[in-house]
Amino acid sequence: MSDDRCWWKCGVIYQVYPRSFQDSNGDGVGDLPGITTRLDYLQWLGVDALWLSPFYPSPQADFGYDIADHCNVDPLFGSLEDFDRLLSEAHRRGLRVLLDYVPNHTSDQHPWFAQSRASRGNPRRDWYIWRNPGPDGALPNNWLSTFGGPAWTWDETTRQFFYHSYLREQPDLNWRNPQVEQAMLDILRFWLDRGVDGFRIDALRKVIKDASFRDNPPNPDWDPSGNPYKRLLPVFSASRPEVHDIIRRMRDVLDGYTDRVMIGELYEPLEKLVTYYGSTDAPECHLPFNFLLLKTPWNAGALRAAIARYEKLLPQHGWPNWVLGNHDKSRIASRVGEAQARVAAMLLLTLRGTPTLYYGDELGLHDVPVPPHLVQDPWEKNVPGLGLGRDPERAPMPWDASPHAGFSSTDPWLPIEPRFESVCVQRQREDPRSILSLHRALIALRRSEPALHQGDLRIIDAPESAVAYERAVPASRMLVLLDLSGSPATLRLDSLRQGGEVVASTHPSRTGERVSETITLDANQGLVIRLGG
Ligand code: NOJ
Repeated sequence: MSDDRCWWKCGVIYQVYPRSFQDSNGDGVGDLPGITTRLDYLQWLGVDALWLSPFYPSPQADFGYDIADHCNVDPLFGSLEDFDRLLSEAHRRGLRVLLDYVPNHTSDQHPWFAQSRASRGNPRRDWYIWRNPGPDGALPNNWLSTFGGPAWTWDETTRQFFYHSYLREQPDLNWRNPQVEQAMLDILRFWLDRGVDGFRIDALRKVIKDASFRDNPPNPDWDPSGNPYKRLLPVFSASRPEVHDIIRRMRDVLDGYTDRVMIGELYEPLEKLVTYYGSTDAPECHLPFNFLLLKTPWNAGALRAAIARYEKLLPQHGWPNWVLGNHDKSRIASRVGEAQARVAAMLLLTLRGTPTLYYGDELGLHDVPVPPHLVQDPWEKNVPGLGLGRDPERAPMPWDASPHAGFSSTDPWLPIEPRFESVCVQRQREDPRSILSLHRALIALRRSEPALHQGDLRIIDAPESAVAYERAVPASRMLVLLDLSGSPATLRLDSLRQGGEVVASTHPSRTGERVSETITLDANQGLVIRLGG
């Protein structure tokens, strides 16, 4: 396939959070054999690739983002054989598989850290970040842990502090040590040799820190009633210029294999985000995750401006991508409401660039409230009551109307969506008007229409309440109209001079309707219109 048509550009990525997708052994936690039994569903839905959040051996302090062995599977999730089977079954169905690669830190139970903390003279001491106390036992600097409190923990045995961007159970690796880099790049090779199609790279901007560990400056915009981590600007603990060299070397490893993709988790302002594409001579991420839709206020003006700014800032060689939800953010249906969740699905699946869909968003799942005694997320436990906890968006996938929603044969690790009987896959599959059917129709349309998976994007002037854009390849043009306001709007559009036909609509169905210069968009409605003809 030519570079312009490769799978990760044309396809749709689907994020599976393994703990919450399908339990196969009745312990209330999802696992790899469970995912394998649901591959037919993903094929039916029409996605092209799955990204699996971590399933490696782990004490689960941060639910798998604390890895104790990068080259194995935690018994909670199955075995390496189960992984191989999942991979080959996925490939047999034409589905690619991406893994979560966590280079910034390991678990404190990783053998490397056990050695590192054993003594100051241990050959692995320098694999992690150790510092002496300041005067009077003070912390080495003012850096904060994302999950609350200082980022330094005192180790009484060796009488130094170690650094952790996240939990103290997640010590940061020292990427300035070439042996660490070698060992971590070998892990990429281990999984690539096994046949995986690429990686989503966790916390990529934090991998390397300021060489002299300067204090972070205060954040003038910090709201003291909000997230305490935001008190400082992480200018010396993240996004350091040296990170680009490391990313290039990761990319070199992937480029030694055919057709693999590297996606970076990078919560960065747009101007900075686009630098993570690297250059044509020195490429970095294929897709630096674009999180604009997670934070842009949900109104037509703001969305239009965000799309335009992203399109403008992308480098020529940079392929766009869009994310609507993930395991760290409140679900889209909870953020924008049920009616707009359909509009959001149409937006995600018709914009220019690779869409990433978070499991359960295709069902319109809401965040599921978790009572205090059932809280799992360490962030919520450390910094309670500020709404930082991520349990609500990690609720088990509701498959059918049976007692545990077809997810498990027992009470799952997090509560199930209370309306599971009506929103489950089984129910929605049968209903052509469901949000699941809408997702499936849009994914199929995107696949069959080059204008949608490949075409250019041009934003069209529309009333304040609507977002309108054209997607075009020389042979065909599609117009997307989205009402963001919740009230009907009549639009008169030049694009529609030669008429067109509705090929997808959020609700109710208008598919097949012929339209001309003036069109009325119902409240919360989205339409895809094939122009001309
Ligand atoms: C980002 C991941 O998405 C999140 O879930 C995790 O807690 C942190 N990185 C630390 O690995």
